[in-house]
Amino acid sequence: MDHFLYRNGVLHAEDVPVTEIASAVGTPFYAYSTATLTRHFKLFDEALDGMDHLVCFAMKSNSNMAVIKLMGELGAGMDVVSIGEYLRAKAAGVPGDRIVFSGVGKTRDEMRVALEGGIRQFNVESEPELEALNEVAVSLGVKAPIALRVNPDVDAKTHAKIATGKSENKFGIPIATCRDVYKRAGEMAGIDVVGIDVHIGSQLTQLEPFELAFTKVAELTETLRADGHNIRRLDLGGGLGIPYERSNEAPPLPVEYGEMVKRTVGHLGCEIEIEPGRLISGNAGILVSSVIYLKHGEGRDFLIVDAAMNDLVRPSMYDAHHDIIPVVEAEAGVEQTKMDIVGPVCETGDTFAKGRDMPELGEGDLVAFRSAGAYGAVMASEYNSRPLIPEVLVKDDQFAVIRARPSFEEMINRDSIPEWI
Ligand code: LLP
Repeated sequence: MDHFLYRNGVLHAEDVPVTEIASAVGTPFYAYSTATLTRHFKLFDEALDGMDHLVCFAMKSNSNMAVIKLMGELGAGMDVVSIGEYLRAKAAGVPGDRIVFSGVGKTRDEMRVALEGGIRQFNVESEPELEALNEVAVSLGVKAPIALRVNPDVDAKTHAKIATGKSENKFGIPIATCRDVYKRAGEMAGIDVVGIDVHIGSQLTQLEPFELAFTKVAELTETLRADGHNIRRLDLGGGLGIPYERSNEAPPLPVEYGEMVKRTVGHLGCEIEIEPGRLISGNAGILVSSVIYLKHGEGRDFLIVDAAMNDLVRPSMYDAHHDIIPVVEAEAGVEQTKMDIVGPVCETGDTFAKGRDMPELGEGDLVAFRSAGAYGAVMASEYNSRPLIPEVLVKDDQFAVIRARPSFEEMINRDSIPEWI
């Protein structure tokens, strides 16, 4: 459930008509709902009730400072994958002991900043990374808390570009050989082994792959404990999917996920971390755009809108589906026409949807892309010299611009021309 509903025929974000935000900030823009973000965080937090746990929001899904601040105040930890995300989390007031650092390519500089600023744990993905981290920690006279990210060789049954848990993927250390790496880690002066980390992919719509992976992690916990390691924390990653196509998708709920976590690893007495991103932020955001033209092509109609692949890249990058709805609700029984919904960018890939049933729309009419709060604004670019679009946060009947639209001058003046031209 989210808080984007029609009231008197107009789509609202919580208690604010989307038309009102559009008049104030212009289109296109992202709008997020505080109530939805809060609700989704709490669903996970409550799903793990009864276990010592920390829900670490995967900042890569939405790293706007206002969103991070909100999450931090709810008690969330953060899963970061770059020092940029780490510094954002710190700047939003999240203490280092609630920040987990993931990612296959952490640099020594990034490790140093995180060790100096405070960190809950590094999720280490390879032996060279382990060695580098040990050296950095020793040079600073500290011990780095680590979990090794293991690769359980499980098929996440999701889009190939976002599956991470098969042995052919670049992520983690093969579960079959990780005992040796744990042994080495246990002997390093700058390393404190605290646990095991696993993340098998994103937008998973079934529990089974998680269950397989977590069962393997449970077995590994017992093995490593028998080897003498004090395994006290399990980071189970993120990845629970959301219903992008509401008419025919119903992925498992956080509560069902929580029950499965308890079933698979609950008996081990470990502190549990999870790293959800999409399920917290995805359905908490919409992208609002206006129609530029309705173009009648040969045998096809094209609805050309002012948002483009640079603003929301998911459809062109992953063939992802986003429900697209008119902001002013069509009257019941109104005839729908199939159309392709496209942006103004000069490539065919700039297509959001094909053959989508839409009511009659024309120049200036508003449409909303649902489920755009995760991997939307964070993946945007200025391709075609289109400035990044604003982000707005709604709470009850108020809204605030949490990232302003830059002017064309600001965008242009970021470049500099050497004097020798
Ligand atoms: N933890 C780790 C280590 C991850 O790599 C990811 C996502 C997450 C947690 C959060 O996963 P989530 O709960 O959001 O599924 N841009 C793609 C998604 C890439 C996901 C990358 N890793 C998309 O738009 O679908």
